[in-house]
Amino acid sequence: MSKPTLTITDNRTGRTYEIPITNGTIRAMDLRQIRASSDDFGLMTYDPAFTNTASCQSSITFIDGERGVLDYRGYAIEELAEKSTYLETAYLILNGELPSRSDLLGWVHAIKHHTLLHENIKKLIDGFHHDAHPMGMLIAIVGALSTFYPDAKNIFDREVRREQIVRLIAKVPTIAAFCYRHSAGLPYAYPDNDLTYTGNFLNMFFKMTELKYSPNPVLERALEVLFILHADHEQNCSTSAMRSVGSSQVDPYAAVAAATAALYGPLHGGANEAVLRMLEQIGSVANVLSFIARVKQGEGRLMGFGHRIYKSYDPRAKIIKQMADRVFEVMGRNPLLDIALELERIALEDEYFVSRKLYPNVDFYSGLIYQSMRITVDMFPVMFAIPRTVGWLTQWEEMIEDDEQKIARPRQIYIGHARRPYVPLDER
Ligand code: ACO
Repeated sequence: MSKPTLTITDNRTGRTYEIPITNGTIRAMDLRQIRASSDDFGLMTYDPAFTNTASCQSSITFIDGERGVLDYRGYAIEELAEKSTYLETAYLILNGELPSRSDLLGWVHAIKHHTLLHENIKKLIDGFHHDAHPMGMLIAIVGALSTFYPDAKNIFDREVRREQIVRLIAKVPTIAAFCYRHSAGLPYAYPDNDLTYTGNFLNMFFKMTELKYSPNPVLERALEVLFILHADHEQNCSTSAMRSVGSSQVDPYAAVAAATAALYGPLHGGANEAVLRMLEQIGSVANVLSFIARVKQGEGRLMGFGHRIYKSYDPRAKIIKQMADRVFEVMGRNPLLDIALELERIALEDEYFVSRKLYPNVDFYSGLIYQSMRITVDMFPVMFAIPRTVGWLTQWEEMIEDDEQKIARPRQIYIGHARRPYVPLDER
């Protein structure tokens, strides 16, 4: 007879416990009742890096890593990438449903009317060196926005929350573009409300002396698709940082700054930059075999390969790879593409990568497209942070509205010294 429970026998005591199974999960707190003695704290689970622990219930993004499936709110990423726009997808992620025509107009209007930055932000940007990494600048400036909008700390007021969400989605591209213009020594280009979200980003990035910037429609659409693909990815490192930091009830600017910092790392959103630098370092197709051999010997990783969740081809990488050709038609073929294709070909046949189920992830081809679009390499992680902002904020809001959530506070297994007497300096 089948029953949705788990029976555990504690061999230390001979006692048996029956624990409910819901959604293929047991509650860690149900283990606490399992004690070897009356002064025993109770059983805990040990899960470094949270490889088998669900930290929340969520209805935003679904991933089936074995089958390479990614859905936002029940819509397949492939369909959204083909038919939607970034702002429509952002609305879907945030609100759970696709917008009506009038809802979409209102949403796009709201975002477009919050793209400007307080002029003091420019002074902050001016304080950075010309070669400051734009991710470091983005983290600092998003964090600083917290001081411009002190009202944002009212996180339990839905209207206040929504206002900050609109501000962040609208302002992060402006901050990103201004950081680039600062490092390039170019004057800041202000937002143009006539353009789409991505068209305006290209305007703020590339506008020179022309009175009106017209984005290339192929590049504008490519950016739109890249932004859709990066909008959310459930409980990854930066989203967990967002939820964890946000659980202290800090304002969303501080929490997004923390999430951005988590994204910066080369094992996460910094990987697209690392891929490009790796391809440049390999230099030519002839060097691919020896590079792979070094990776297999443990000398570094094949950046842009492997994923904690995907154990088949990352569906986002598939779409990006197909889209790359359209960008190359406009901008010319990226010479590093041949190295990337050869790396992928060899890795997908090699026992080391096959047995570990290592496939290209979202970062493997995105950098090649960004580079072809003339976006500078150190901007790549920033290009990831812009669209992910909506994912972070939606996950943060879901956490705030979830009665089960409280301040994130994992346990530890203490393996250090037992209490001992202080040793005076002369006696050490
Ligand atoms: N190159 C070579 N070997 C790899 C790679 C890689 N890119 N990724 C994993 N492996 C190997 C590991 O060495 C390990 O081998 P072992 O079992 O012999 O020790 C095995 O595959 C499993 O790897 P883990 O590190 O345990 O896998 P984990 O789930 O912790 O890591 C991660 C996932 C961080 C993405 C990893 O695959 C990686 O470092 N990839 C390169 C960086 C990258 O592209 N990051 C972007 C991910 S997508 C994103 O964040 C948006």
